[in-house]
Amino acid sequence: MSSVTQTIIPERGTLSGKVAIVTGSAQGIGRTLAEQFAAAGAKTVIADLDVASARRVADDLKAGGMASLAVQVDVGNAASVENLVAASIAEFGRIDVLVNNAAIFSTIEMRPFDEIPSEEWTKVIDVNLTGVFNCCRAVAETMRRQGTGRIINMSSATVLFGRPHYLHYVASKAGVLGITRGLARELGPFGVTVNSILPGSVETGIPRGSVSGDQASRIIASQSIGRRLTSKDIVGITLFLASDDSEAITGQSLVADGGANFL
Ligand SMILES: NC(=O)c1ccc[n+]([C@@H]2O[C@H](COP(=O)([O-])OP(=O)(O)OC[C@H]3O[C@@H](n4cnc5c(N)ncnc54)[C@H](O)[C@@H]3O)[C@@H](O)[C@H]2O)c1
Repeated sequence: MSSVTQTIIPERGTLSGKVAIVTGSAQGIGRTLAEQFAAAGAKTVIADLDVASARRVADDLKAGGMASLAVQVDVGNAASVENLVAASIAEFGRIDVLVNNAAIFSTIEMRPFDEIPSEEWTKVIDVNLTGVFNCCRAVAETMRRQGTGRIINMSSATVLFGRPHYLHYVASKAGVLGITRGLARELGPFGVTVNSILPGSVETGIPRGSVSGDQASRIIASQSIGRRLTSKDIVGITLFLASDDSEAITGQSLVADGGANFL
């Protein structure tokens, strides 16, 4: 018997019952993503260096009847990341989604590349690039065993423009695209997808030195969508990549920048 309802996929677009780790989710974009993941039915791990803020986010979710766990992690430290994964599995039993969102970003100082101290270069690469590697490596065995998994890496549209004065940041986010392409090939046979999101300039309410008031209006002028983007603008694309709906999409880098031409 033919019926239109044959094509309806139950629970489309939800994360019901899935377990998601969102790194750097104590504030900013990560916090919004974690909250929306929880609202979509995921059991959400709030993983951040700033554990006091992470606990506040997790407590708010739990108070709203959503399953959440706060874990302190330094993504640049492999042992700390192993602990995050062990704690997540101990609490929720599996890991369906990893969002590699943590980065040194809002605290970064803008300066010409030849004034970046070597230690600062190393630190940014350790957290923003090696941190992604550490987290992917730590969840890989679990996702392979499950035969399913979603890894979403937060890169940046700044890679496409080569915005000056934070070369360590730009280099780290370009490296994230390389991880995404290579890892998609290695994990694809196990049903694990790996994709990147490249946000444009996103207003999060967290103060930062990289966007002055004057630059904010230039950013808007550069975009096809004539307003500042907010964290909410990154939610839909991330939910999609975390869901079963994106099963056949891997190794991709999706830009969410309001249609910007330059910065
Ligand atoms: N906001 C933007 O305009 C924008 C644009 C493009 C890309 N991004 C990317 O999106 C992500 C989130 O951006 P945001 O604006 O919310 O940044 P943010 O600086 O406000 O938040 C970053 C979070 O990561 C955490 N963190 C920093 N170092 C860590 C570490 N070693 N281990 C664990 N957690 C750590 C911080 O405590 C913080 O909670 C970042 O990867 C950033 O590079 C942001």
